[in-house]
Amino acid sequence: MSPADKNKPKHILLIIGGGIAAYKASELIRLIKKAGMTVRCVLTESGAQFVTPMTLAALSENEVHTTLWSLKDETEMGHIQLSREADLVVVCPATANLLAKMVAGIADDLATTLLLATDTQVLAAPAMNVRMWDHPATRRNIDQLRRDGVSVMSPDQGDMACGEYGPGRLPEPPEILEEIRNHLDGANTKKPISASMSKPGTSPLDGQPAFAPDQHRPLHGKHILVTAGPTHEPIDPVRYIANRSSGRQGFAIAGAAAEAGAKVTLVAGPVSLPTPAGVMRIDVETALEMGTAVHDALPADAAIMVAAVADWRADTRADQKIKKQDDGVPAPLNLTENPDILAGLASHEQRPGLLIGFAAETQKIEEHARAKLAKKGCDWIIANDVSGDVMGGTENTVHIVTTDGTEIWERLPKPEVARRLVAKIIEEI
Ligand code: C5P
Repeated sequence: MSPADKNKPKHILLIIGGGIAAYKASELIRLIKKAGMTVRCVLTESGAQFVTPMTLAALSENEVHTTLWSLKDETEMGHIQLSREADLVVVCPATANLLAKMVAGIADDLATTLLLATDTQVLAAPAMNVRMWDHPATRRNIDQLRRDGVSVMSPDQGDMACGEYGPGRLPEPPEILEEIRNHLDGANTKKPISASMSKPGTSPLDGQPAFAPDQHRPLHGKHILVTAGPTHEPIDPVRYIANRSSGRQGFAIAGAAAEAGAKVTLVAGPVSLPTPAGVMRIDVETALEMGTAVHDALPADAAIMVAAVADWRADTRADQKIKKQDDGVPAPLNLTENPDILAGLASHEQRPGLLIGFAAETQKIEEHARAKLAKKGCDWIIANDVSGDVMGGTENTVHIVTTDGTEIWERLPKPEVARRLVAKIIEEI
């Protein structure tokens, strides 16, 4: 995003589904406007049973769109354009029905047609009865939407309009606004288009829901800091030192922590992965930038340093592309050691209460990890055996090394490692 784009007022396309929580969309519109953004509403037929177009038009100060078949709308602004002009599409409330249609790609009204046609990031704030939320069909749909790159917020837990109790309540409008801000701050709000991003196995929360309903949002009120991905250390304008880290494990951990209700800051090296729902992402390139972003994000209740930080950087970055010499002598490449971000956090006056490092090892895994635990001054080391295809792959075999002992987990998909690790963190903080 260019600096000029950053300063333009952001525009939200708000799709209002048909649930009792639709009335809260009015409050959300008010907050969006107060935050200096513009908003245009699309109301589904069932949404109109709960809130009127007149209310939404008055609050948004914009025309409200309700049908695909409006000749006036089509001539003034086609529905494709309506879906594309926004900086973020927000579905609130996202009913079980609307979510299911999004998964299936059904486009049988204006709202679902826009959702299928948009090239903009979509944020869904679900609201439904607790049994509907827990139903395997909805669980499957949520997982699939996340794999497709849709950001799906976790609903709140509490008394429901229908008299039952549990997760399924619409998150409060200020929380949704914060999520909107996180997405807009998180730079790229255009949908990921790379096929690899939507392949099963690459999503942060692949498979089942991260937490049983009765453990809903156990990390609420906690701030979790995660680093992920490689760093790139420039040599000249076109070359850099890098490594094979994909960022998948760190992104999965950030997503699982957010799913558990934490405020999550993810400091990400250069990777092409979608930002997990509910995560505040800060993109960096070099180890020095990563270190600064990590310090700026403090204080944190826990920090999980998953990034494969380059050990060295070129001690000077050439302004121009380094040319090959005619005499065949390679250009000298002098390296300087990068600061150790993890060790720096361990001795920081704002040291997170729980500090976790990762260690990529190819042999004597536990022994090396235990030595690293002491050397870096962290609380746990998650050692992964990278002798196979772990680096850049979708599965991981980890040893959890702490001062109390070592746990060895069998080879698991990275999202499952993330889920289990976050469950272990919940017990600790
Ligand atoms: O020393 P080694 O690279 O094996 O340590 C790995 C752990 O240390 C990881 O948690 C990694 O994120 C962290 N680290 C760091 N800063 C560095 C090097 C590694 O935070 N410069």
